[in-house]
Amino acid sequence: MNKKKVIAALTEAMNLELEGGLEYLYLSFNVFGSSRRLLQGFLREQAQEGIEHATKMAEKITSLGGTPHMKVQVDYKTSKLTAKRILERGMVREQKALDLYKASLPLAADDVALEELLRSQIVAEQEHLEEVGKLLREN
Ligand SMILES: [Fe+2]
Ligand SMILES: [Fe+2]
Repeated sequence: MNKKKVIAALTEAMNLELEGGLEYLYLSFNVFGSSRRLLQGFLREQAQEGIEHATKMAEKITSLGGTPHMKVQVDYKTSKLTAKRILERGMVREQKALDLYKASLPLAADDVALEELLRSQIVAEQEHLEEVGKLLREN
C-alpha cells in the first residue's frame, strides 16, 4: 500500500465530503413551496452524513500517520432553486463522491480494513445516488 497516495486520496475525499455536506446544508435553507417539508429533512440528513463521512476519512488519515489538510471553498448565494435543480445538484455531488471512492479502491492493495472502509463508502454513495435519482423520477 502506498501510504502517501492513500492519504492524498482520503484527503480529497474528506474535503469533497465536507464541501458536499455544506452544499446540502445550504440547499436545505433554500427549499420552498410544497417540496419543502419533504426535501428539507432529506437535505439536512445528507449534510449530516457528509460531515460523518469526512470524519471517517480524517480519522483514517491520522491512523495512517497523516495530518488531515482541510481545504474547503464554499461561496453559495443562489436562493432561487427549484426542487428539481436542487436534486440535480445532489446527483452531481453523489456521483463525484462515488467516482472518487471507486478510483481509490485499488490503492488499498493488501489493506483489507481500508478496502472495507472504501467499499462501505461506495455502497453508501451508490445508495444516495439511487435515492436522489428516485426523488427526481416523475414516475
Ligand atoms: Fe459521503
Ligand atoms: Fe453521499
